[in-house]
Amino acid sequence: DLKINGASSSASSRERPVQLRSRKWFGSDVNPAMESIYVERYLNYGLTREELASGKPIIGIAQSGSDLVPCNRYHLELSKRIREGIRTAGGIAFEFPIHPIQETARRPTACLDRNLAYLGLVEILYGYPLDGVVLLTGCDKTTPACLMAAATMNIPALCLNVGPMLNGYIKGDLSGSGMVIWKGRELLSAGEINRDEFIEYVATGTPSAGHCNTMGTASTMNAMAEALGMALPNSAAIPAPYRERAQYAYETGKQIVEMVLKDRKPSDIMTREAFENAIVVNTAIGGSTNAPIHVTAIAKHMGINLTMEDWDQVGFEVPLLLNMQPAGEYLGEDYFRAGGLPAIMAELLDAGKLHADVLTCNGRTVADNVRGKHSWDRRVIKEYKNPILDNAGFRHLRGSLFDSAIMKTSVISKEFREKFLENPDDPEAFEGAVVVFDGPEDYHQRIEDESTPVDEKTLLIIRGAGPLGYPGAAEVVNMHPPGRLLKKGIHSLPCIGDGRQSGTSGSPSILNASPEAAAGGNLGLLKTGDRLRVDLRKRRVDILISDDEFKSRREKLEAQGGYHGPESHTPWQEIFRKETDQLSEGMVLREALKYQRIAQK
Ligand code: FES
Ligand code: MG
Repeated sequence: DLKINGASSSASSRERPVQLRSRKWFGSDVNPAMESIYVERYLNYGLTREELASGKPIIGIAQSGSDLVPCNRYHLELSKRIREGIRTAGGIAFEFPIHPIQETARRPTACLDRNLAYLGLVEILYGYPLDGVVLLTGCDKTTPACLMAAATMNIPALCLNVGPMLNGYIKGDLSGSGMVIWKGRELLSAGEINRDEFIEYVATGTPSAGHCNTMGTASTMNAMAEALGMALPNSAAIPAPYRERAQYAYETGKQIVEMVLKDRKPSDIMTREAFENAIVVNTAIGGSTNAPIHVTAIAKHMGINLTMEDWDQVGFEVPLLLNMQPAGEYLGEDYFRAGGLPAIMAELLDAGKLHADVLTCNGRTVADNVRGKHSWDRRVIKEYKNPILDNAGFRHLRGSLFDSAIMKTSVISKEFREKFLENPDDPEAFEGAVVVFDGPEDYHQRIEDESTPVDEKTLLIIRGAGPLGYPGAAEVVNMHPPGRLLKKGIHSLPCIGDGRQSGTSGSPSILNASPEAAAGGNLGLLKTGDRLRVDLRKRRVDILISDDEFKSRREKLEAQGGYHGPESHTPWQEIFRKETDQLSEGMVLREALKYQRIAQK
């Protein structure tokens, strides 16, 4: 009956009886007054005393879908199949909502809510009678929020992705969600389409239920969940409307009950080796620039010190194997039909790039799950020895402008790559004068202005866009050139910033710069006209101004009270700004790191 996920519990040798934590609410050794209070209200919708007293595992279903979160909304349907799986395996399901996070609608930015949803979910998992939990993931930040909470709480937990939308098309050409916005806004800026046509154009990337069908942050983070062993093998890439999606929902329900009975917890699965596997996988799929932030955050909550340096050390020399937008051509349906993540991991396993013996959710090792699952479709998933691109990982940069920033090298143009990244004997570095913008509003206001001195040699800088400057960190570093340059055929300029950028962006920006301007970083000292030197081989970005000038600017800025973003508009924004670390540290709530493996305390 476990044909789909191929599960067996062979790798798990622990057979001690589990103490279900739900017995602290519904067990016979709870004092009768408390037990009656805990039990009675769960009877009022039809649960029976017999069920609650049965000693069956109680499984939470953390529902992230709602009318506010269309990307995850199909989970309202899928959760029915999860319940059936839970029942079949002998558990009882309790479905509950988590704080909504819709990437495209939440103002000022959805990332502000990752830590809020995390906090809320930890409190729910701690405070209610749950023995295990199915985490319904999908849209970008829903997945890391859920995995961060699972790590902190450390009760058996299993992700089910909602799955990507079907492929979109524009007159027969693939239209990838997110990507189509970047293309459309160029057409709009260049005056080739009007406002109405722009919206229709963008909507072609949204053909069905599900999350973005490109390898944006949603597809990436769900691939990360599967690569970490926290989702059933081959489950992440199934398009939302496919029959396999609902079938895996059922299997996920069954699997979580087994995990509870075997006491297979996040700490057994999300080990240092598992995180290194995830980094390797992220390069091979051309994953999002948000992955280092979120995966690092999950690791920190698990008590594992993953750093941005690890992303370069472990991930840079891995090849790009998946031909999917934005780094490649295809979309989610093609990826799934070509074999999904197991087909990618089978290549990496054969090449010795994975820790093969890491335990996964189904009790089997990574190697057991993916060995031999090679793709039959070499247009979409390449052989390891014949990749789309070698050395396709993130480069981790430092220098006098910041202590940490990353660049996604799989989207750098071939010319730029040859000139500035490959050929180690060539000493050439990239230099240019900057134009500085303070936050996204300033960029939008001034980019088309003739007096803003942007030409084809300009480096575009955005600051005030980090976790503190623009609470949550804005996805804005992939700035497009002004219409006057687009008309001349210049479609991109180098961009650097202390914000993030969309996972669906094909821009080779230098981003997630930490410390950000609002945390006292040197980006705050930069002025339009300054020159920067970007040496990708030496992994450095330096400001070409004298030490004296540097010092005097610093003194002047400090005298003004430092660099500030806009005022906070809500209580959470203020709390977030006080408690949150920089992007290089995963943007976690510092205080939360004191609380680890709560269920075992
Ligand atoms: Fe939700 Fe892309 S906007 S997944
Ligand atoms: Mg986004």
